[in-house]
Parts: sequence; C-alpha cells; structure tokens
Amino acid sequence: MKIEPLCTLFGTCGGCQYQDIPYERELALKEETLKQQLQEELSVAGEVFEPIESSPEVLHYRSRLDLTLRKRNNGERQMGFMLPGTQRLQEVTSCLLARREINDYLPSLKEQAVRMLPADYRVANLVVRVGEEGKVFWGGIGRRSLRMKEEDYFWVTVRGRKIYYALDTFFQANHSILEKIIARIEALVPWTKETVFLDLYSGVGLFGIALADRAGEVVMIEEGADSVKLAAYNVRVHHLEHVRLLEGKVETHLPEVLKEASGKPCVALIDPPRGGLAASVIETLVQAKDLASLFYLSCSPESLVRDLKELTRTAWRVQKIMPFDFFPRTRHLETLVWLVRA
Ligand SMILES: C[S@@+](CC[C@H](N)C(=O)[O-])C[C@H]1O[C@@H](n2cnc3c(N)ncnc32)[C@H](O)[C@@H]1O
Repeated sequence: MKIEPLCTLFGTCGGCQYQDIPYERELALKEETLKQQLQEELSVAGEVFEPIESSPEVLHYRSRLDLTLRKRNNGERQMGFMLPGTQRLQEVTSCLLARREINDYLPSLKEQAVRMLPADYRVANLVVRVGEEGKVFWGGIGRRSLRMKEEDYFWVTVRGRKIYYALDTFFQANHSILEKIIARIEALVPWTKETVFLDLYSGVGLFGIALADRAGEVVMIEEGADSVKLAAYNVRVHHLEHVRLLEGKVETHLPEVLKEASGKPCVALIDPPRGGLAASVIETLVQAKDLASLFYLSCSPESLVRDLKELTRTAWRVQKIMPFDFFPRTRHLETLVWLVRA
C-alpha cells in the first residue's frame, strides 16, 4: 500500500526512501532485508532474530543536520543537501526528519552563514545540532567554528543522567530510541559488582555512562580527541570514579584491558564506524577466552556480516540479532548482535 509522502522533496533529496509507505510496512521491509542479508552469509537459525524495535519518534527525530552552503556563479547563495552522486544542491528550508528546533533555526542559520562566508569561499559544510533542551548551535565556517564552551555543550538524558556531546563529537542522531537499546543490553546480562564493562569505540561515553551503575568497573576506549574530551567531561560531572577512559585505538588498548580484566565477569560492547572491525581487533576478540558476552552494534549490515563470519568461525556464537530502527523513513538500520563464547 502506498501513501502520500509528506515532504515535497521526497524522491529528490535522497535522504528518505520510505516516506511513501506506512511505517509498519517500512519496519517489516527492514526486518526482512536484514534477515536475508545475514542468513545468506551466516549459518544462524531464524530464532535468533528478534522483532525490529520501532523508533518512538518517526518524524522530526534527527538532532543533527549536515548542510552545504554554496555561492553560485551569479552570486546567489544556496543552502541545502548535495544530491547523492551529483554536483547538484537541493535548497532546503525544512526537513521532515530534523528536530523542529533545527527547522525553526534554518532561516537564521542561512542568514548568519551567508554573512560569515569569506569572499574567496565558494562552499562551506555546515553542521547544525540541537540538544534535549532545544538549544541550537552550528559551525563549519572558520577553523575553530565547531569548538564549544563547556556551558554550551548539548546534552540528552539517558538513564537519568545527562550525557554531554558537542558539535565536533560523534553522537547518535535519534535520541528517542536510546533508552530502548540500553534497556535491551541491560536486560541480557547478569550484572554484578564484579562485572567489568568495556565500552569500545565509546564516542563521548553514551553506553559506558548509561550503564555505569550496573558494573563494578567500566573501561571506555575512543580515538577521537574531541570525543575523548567530552567523555572525560561526562565522567567528571557525574563523579564516576570507577569509569576509566583510554584515548587511542581499540587495536592498541584492547589486549591489555582484557588481560587486566581476566578472571572477572567481563562484558564488551563494540560500536565501530561503518567500516567495521580491524583484523587485529577480531583476532583479539577471538582469543578473549575470559570475555563472557559481546555486543556488536552496527550501522552497516555489510561489515557486520563480514566481521561476524570471522568471530563465529570458532570462538563466538550468535545468541540474538536485534534490529533497532534508529533512522525511520530512510534505508538505514542499526543492528545489535549479542554473542556468547562458543
Ligand atoms: C559509531 S561511533 C560510536 C560512538 C558511541 N558508541 C556512541 O554511540 O555515541 C564510533 C566511534 O569510534 C571512534 N573510532 C573509530 N575508529 C576507532 C578505533 N580504531 N579505535 C577507537 N575508536 C575509534 C570514532 O571516533 C567514533 O567516536
């Protein structure tokens, strides 16, 4: 069944793929596609697939937009999205997926950005973000334009704690689904005062901070200096003395961290970028005999399948595959996989 898309740019801007079908149908399609992709390549039983978790907010959920500001030959300034695979820019005055505060801010953003664009610049990539309390900030013109003052940091409340992030850090764009995914991880593990929780590719520490009360010790590993700065801020403002933050690559720190945790119940969450895991990280996880539970959160079914093939060859077994609809109306899907030692 087809429905009338709400946005006039649907089919043009390339951001949404599913505005013309009911949300329930979109969820079913995503679920089916993921099953096909994973079952084709991995020998996993149908029972390990959980029903897809819907997003509490289906429209106006994105807390971040990336826009291009461009000066045309005729002097006209346009602000909008670059059309995928082209040099064409689609002017945008509002986006159905963006939080309403961002949409309300777009006219003022364009005015400010046009005023600030240096005369010799033809293009600028703008980032605009909003926090839970509705404050909007943007950057992208000038070297330090993404830097924020501590008092301006964005935050979102998860498990009763404010998790702070900034213009220059990674942070999940759909806040409405975060409690759901954290509750799922929390429910699957028998947490004790001894549990060591490893939040790998931690960003500003979303999972480590949200689950800090469940574990005796938390170790977060993150390589991006801007995210590390905010992760340290999050640890400090919440006085979490049992949370340790390691700056650098998971490849470098993980072997030592696992050695230190040996003998204790240890749970790890890996949330790598789209490209997935480096071969050395897979090898470390294969060898990690003391690691009881491994959660793999992925935004790319392709790299997820590739990495799961290696992890499940001898060492790990897939217990559950849990799709979460982080990006309603688009083709993107987040998948949480729970693995235990084989
Ligand atoms: C998908 S984000 C996840 C962040 C966090 N888990 C969250 O949900 O907010 C991936 C993070 O991994 C970091 N990263 C990428 N490669 C890394 C590596 N080899 N070692 C450590 N961190 C890495 C990136 O800087 C980014 O913050």
